[in-house]
Amino acid sequence: MRFSVTKNTSLFRYQLDRSKLFEGSWPIKDGVSVNAYLVRGSEKTVLIDYVEEGASFDEELKEMGLTVDDIDILVLNHMEPDHTGGLRDFFARRPDIPVYCTKVASLEVLSLYGKKDAHVIKPMEELELGGATLVFVPAPNVHWPDTMVTYYKEEGILFSCDAFGSFGETESVYDTELSEAEKKLLETETERYYANIVAPFSSFVLKAIDSLKALDIKMICPSHGIIYKGDVARIVSWYSRLASYAQGPQEKEITLLLSSMYGNTKSMADALSERAEARGVKVHVVRIPDDGFSVLLEKAWRSAALVVAAPTYERNMFPEAVYAMDLLCRKGVKGRKSMHFGSSLWSGGAAAEYRALAEKMGLDVVDAIDYRGAGSEADREKILAAFDKILEELN
Ligand SMILES: Cc1cc2nc3c(=O)[nH]c(=O)nc-3n(C[C@H](O)[C@H](O)[C@H](O)COP(=O)(O)O)c2cc1C
Ligand SMILES: [Fe+2]
Ligand SMILES: [Fe+2]
Repeated sequence: MRFSVTKNTSLFRYQLDRSKLFEGSWPIKDGVSVNAYLVRGSEKTVLIDYVEEGASFDEELKEMGLTVDDIDILVLNHMEPDHTGGLRDFFARRPDIPVYCTKVASLEVLSLYGKKDAHVIKPMEELELGGATLVFVPAPNVHWPDTMVTYYKEEGILFSCDAFGSFGETESVYDTELSEAEKKLLETETERYYANIVAPFSSFVLKAIDSLKALDIKMICPSHGIIYKGDVARIVSWYSRLASYAQGPQEKEITLLLSSMYGNTKSMADALSERAEARGVKVHVVRIPDDGFSVLLEKAWRSAALVVAAPTYERNMFPEAVYAMDLLCRKGVKGRKSMHFGSSLWSGGAAAEYRALAEKMGLDVVDAIDYRGAGSEADREKILAAFDKILEELN
């Protein structure tokens, strides 16, 4: 689908298959768009980014009376195959097209798609298209080491690559046109995209935002999701906040990772949720594996506390809860207030495994408690006392 962004800038929007997992891991039941942009100067036409394997922008170009032969330069902000998989076919048709990208990306262009050469950009290098100037700004590790962003000087447009991107499809193209329902969807889907994909690179995100401060940004055109042209400063500060959760402080909210086979751990978890609710503290209960690791990451990323409620299973912790903690660790969920409790019958063992994982994650552990069956009144009091400490520390 093609949309006009400004008089000489078009959005080419491609929707990925919702039945598949993004990056082989993340559900996209509400879809995700892959955005590329065509900028036409009086002398040169530039395509910024491409699309996955098996797809092309031939239809979008045709609508404008163009073909791939009319593209003078291809700019690649980042080489992940959601934006480049289709290049093998594209390069077969345009073997000599100049490609502008970073040094790391140029090696990928070569190794992934067999292109002979690429133009390696210098930081802040400018490209004149005739009445339109593109400026290339390296943004290493915002998502991959090969990443850069492209700034269209005259229009103040930032083609921000994966930064500011989100899951979720909307009919609207601009943030200013979103319905209330779309706004809500986009907010959580941006946070989920951030926590699943960008979170481990948060320090680089903050660096990149800092390096863009000198630019007058009027519009943000990311490579996934909505275009921002409303209150751009507010969006940038929201994004900085998402990145700042890495070091903290996070929101005064609790994510309760809940695994339970027969309900003994769950009934204890319900008591904690009720207590938090009574104190006015938000608890995100994420059932693992049922609700999915993607949502767990989204909620845990923003929360200042992580409660792990998981029973003993073969002398260790319930396996999916172990995997969940490992995943949280890899994605940079660290330094949160935390506790564990879980039901067992004979040996226990979940609490000990939790402690080992929590140490690796740098969690600030209040307590870890294995109890038998449904738990005694004393178990319940001990667990609630630990939880009260977390509630107090959040206030
Ligand atoms: C597959 C399986 C393995 C288990 N392994 C252990 C174990 O090694 N040690 C233990 O004390 N309890 C073990 N249990 C017992 C559970 O921890 C106990 O049933 C607990 O109450 C389950 O909590 P839930 O009701 O929240 O699922 C096991 C239960 C199952 C189903
Ligand atoms: Fe990416
Ligand atoms: Fe992407």
